[in-house]
Amino acid sequence: MSQTTETKETPYKPTSPNSKLDFASVWEYAPAPESSDHVEIKDQYQLFIDGKFVKPSKGRYFKSTNPATTEVITEFAEATQNDVDKAVKAARKAFKGEWSSLAPKTRGKYLYRIARMLQERSREFSVLESMDGGKPIRESRDVDVPLAAAHFFYYAGWADKLDYAFPGKTPEPLGVCGQIIPWNFPLLMLAWKIAPALACGNTVVLKPAETTSLTALKFAELVKDAGVPAGVINIVTGAGQTGAEIVNHKDIDKIAFTGSTGVGKLIQKSLAGTDKKFTLELGGKGALIVFEDAPIDQAVEGIINAIFFNQGHVCCAGSRLLVQEGVADLVTQKLKDRMETLIVGDPLDKNTDIGAINSSQQFETINSYLEIGVDEGADVYQSKCSIPENGYFIRPTLLANVAQSNRVVQEEIFGPVLTVQTFRTADEAIDKANNTPFGLAGGVWTDKGSKIFKVGAGLRSGVVWANTYNKFDPTSPFGGYKESGVGREGGLHGLSAYVKLK
Ligand code: NAI
Ligand code: MG
Repeated sequence: MSQTTETKETPYKPTSPNSKLDFASVWEYAPAPESSDHVEIKDQYQLFIDGKFVKPSKGRYFKSTNPATTEVITEFAEATQNDVDKAVKAARKAFKGEWSSLAPKTRGKYLYRIARMLQERSREFSVLESMDGGKPIRESRDVDVPLAAAHFFYYAGWADKLDYAFPGKTPEPLGVCGQIIPWNFPLLMLAWKIAPALACGNTVVLKPAETTSLTALKFAELVKDAGVPAGVINIVTGAGQTGAEIVNHKDIDKIAFTGSTGVGKLIQKSLAGTDKKFTLELGGKGALIVFEDAPIDQAVEGIINAIFFNQGHVCCAGSRLLVQEGVADLVTQKLKDRMETLIVGDPLDKNTDIGAINSSQQFETINSYLEIGVDEGADVYQSKCSIPENGYFIRPTLLANVAQSNRVVQEEIFGPVLTVQTFRTADEAIDKANNTPFGLAGGVWTDKGSKIFKVGAGLRSGVVWANTYNKFDPTSPFGGYKESGVGREGGLHGLSAYVKLK
């Protein structure tokens, strides 16, 4: 579907009653770009194995672009079977040697040190995250990097208290963990994987996603500076084939994967019949349930956050709005008004609400879903904001007049696209919310605590937020039902994925 180009000539007129929004006069912001002068991006990055940066054995590299400009910003080494094997051997050697014989509180000290260094270098990490992946600097600065540091702080605290986490049992590390992460929260997913693994005494071989490996390599530099013993953390870059080499390596004890449900299924098949432990954090199609008695303006803010945070590249995004009939028109009007205020554009501009779509591939995927929506009979509403000419950008989009059986309602779009449906009773809302193959997250807005409990208990969903959305904390477990995955990450539950109990 082609993007509409009409913009400023006809200022948007709010449609909801009593709206105070005045787009004709006040909705212009001067640019407020974050400087990228202080960050260093090398022309080429190597693999991080056994505490050293090493060239890939086949000498192959692949390019990474800035999706907001489509310019190539650097290139990463492609790890092949031989390189993955070297990384696993280094991780095994570190596990058998220094790392597992360290006093637990010393392991904790390394994690604390990593957390503090992430805080010290937070500006650099945020800018790199936004440049390589397209997310708004406000989010990488205020969410991704602080939460990544918080995960290291949190699990540092557990390192010498594991006996209290599992009373009456003796927790032991698993050994070498292979960890494969996606492109939507590159540094944060790295923290989710590495912090609990190390706290429990494991060593890791981690593969970042091919479009967003930059902060993982910066992290490798930090690991070196922190003096973490060689081989404890190994970072290998590459695409799906490199991931598959990790999954299939014979000397890996556990696989932790976050990504698409399709790849998650492939991994589960490869692991069947082996004694590798695994956790899979996969896709989602979260429902946002808004009752007539909800505080409507707050609900609209929650919906905006649920679907447009990180361009909608969020596994727990609330991508299906279910509104009770009596307030459906009002909520839709207010939602459109609010969507018109969102600024789409340069990820490094501090005013930007919605940055660039992560890659050309994901850009095509989202656009093809918009076409599918049209074919299925949806009414498409896109906000009229201007978008940059270059780069991968998509305007905030609503798909109304959709049915439960439509692909746009059932499948994960992973972009700034929200479907809208109505319901009459709480039971109907719960049935509709549960009627997808996924079960990762959901939200409910109502004035009544009893409805929150009813809906919360009825949703087959790992997380349910009430009168808010997308609130994350390292102490809180996260994970899915059904095709959204297996196992929990975060909190005390996240520790059990990295220990065997004797
Ligand atoms: P993906 O699942 O292919 O990529 C995630 C990670 O898995 C990357 O590091 C990738 O290199 C690796 N990988 C790919 N094939 C592999 C294999 N056979 N064995 C081991 N590792 C492998 O995700 P992709 O293709 O980039 O995105 C496609 C769709 O997946 C998105 O449109 C979105 O719907 C969903 N997705 C969901 C995520 C989530 O957090 N739930 C994250 C990323 C994508
Ligand atoms: Mg990139």
